[in-house]
Amino acid sequence: MNICVIGAGYVGLTLSITLASLDHQIQCVDKDSNKITQLEKGVIPFYEPELDDLLQSSRKNITFTTNISDAVKSSDLIFIAVGTPSRQDGSASLLALYSVLNDLSQNITTFKTIIVKSTVPPGTCEEVHQKLAELGVASHLYVVASNPEFLREGNALHDTLHPDKTVVGIKDGDTTTVPLLKTIYEKIPTPYIITNLTGAELIKYANNYFLATKISFINEMARVSDKFNVEISHIAQGIGLDPRIGKEFLQAGIGYGGSCFPKDLKALQYIAKINQIETPILHAVQQINDTQINLYVEKIKKQLPNLSEKIAVLGVTFKAHTDDTRSSQSIALIQQLATIGYDVNVYDPKGTIPTEIQSMVTQHPSMEDAIKNSHSIILATDWPEFVLLPWKKIKEMMAGSLIVDGRNVWDKNEVESHGFTYIGVGRR
Ligand code: UGA
Repeated sequence: MNICVIGAGYVGLTLSITLASLDHQIQCVDKDSNKITQLEKGVIPFYEPELDDLLQSSRKNITFTTNISDAVKSSDLIFIAVGTPSRQDGSASLLALYSVLNDLSQNITTFKTIIVKSTVPPGTCEEVHQKLAELGVASHLYVVASNPEFLREGNALHDTLHPDKTVVGIKDGDTTTVPLLKTIYEKIPTPYIITNLTGAELIKYANNYFLATKISFINEMARVSDKFNVEISHIAQGIGLDPRIGKEFLQAGIGYGGSCFPKDLKALQYIAKINQIETPILHAVQQINDTQINLYVEKIKKQLPNLSEKIAVLGVTFKAHTDDTRSSQSIALIQQLATIGYDVNVYDPKGTIPTEIQSMVTQHPSMEDAIKNSHSIILATDWPEFVLLPWKKIKEMMAGSLIVDGRNVWDKNEVESHGFTYIGVGRR
């Protein structure tokens, strides 16, 4: 079966390459001609472990193009995986999705199964169905379904090949989409959750909302354990062993970031607001995350009263194993520290400081350069290479002795044994 994937971002590209590796014929479409040129040369436009190798070995089954007309005409199954970024008011922008619908409407002449992969507000897929009709596509020529994506950046391939579930939202009376998807995903066995279009859209939001809630919960508990001189990781372990709670996403730190949680929670908040639904938990989850950094900035200011001293920040990406800095808590922290007046020096193995703040901070090509003569080291992203550091050597390189562990990865006793002052997140 010929498959067209529209959108070559994390979701679309990972899906395209994975399906190609499972011997499906894929046409991956994107409007960005630079991206397509790169992909044609086998270059992945972002850092995602192992994706380039899989692309190379599946190259014969995949083509990259900007020509949406040809790709749609020659495909039976169309996945839409375009971005839905936040607008100023928090709502998800559906501009890219609507633009795709226009393109589809002009090119559907034979039956197409249209699957929305993008994260979209509840009701959007129903709207997609309606809009295609309004744009003149005959109802017997298409069916619309929702099949949200749950992959994590940095683990994209693993999560696509070993998902914990496959969620499919279909319209009443649609008897073809689920069997079709089960055939396409035959080599990816998972439990299926079949629901209506809006149900699938809401499962996606609820999934991210719940994960973000766990993070804000543990960060709030870290504030409590900080006061009572209790180790937060013991609390996380203690409650995580209860299978009703589960141990994942209970790592206290400077908060969640990335292109998904902040955006999706804002979109959900917007939807709740316009539908007059009270969502106090949702509000609290975001409020805790938004203020988490401030707590550590205050602690740093107390320890480093000379507000122009040199600080080294390790990690700029929103988490390890990605080069993505979108809504990174590290970037927010760096911005705050630089605005205060500190001389901020950063190092990251893959990520680059966004252009808007390049004049405020110095990014170094090595960790040593960033650390040299600094008064403090702040760990903002838990890259594995930051975990085991030669503390004795580091102490000799530094001008001061403040260590702020924003992801609780270091051994407090070991760090302190080298004469450092250690601040973690809810640690004793
Ligand atoms: C998230 C979800 O985990 C995916 O299931 C979902 O498909 C994706 O969003 C999406 O909607 O596209 P992702 O944004 O790649 O994936 O990153 P996560 O691994 O979920 O981490 C998000 C943030 O939470 C990171 O900043 C991370 O450092 C932070 N985090 C995570 C914590 O602070 N503590 C934890 O215990 C776990």
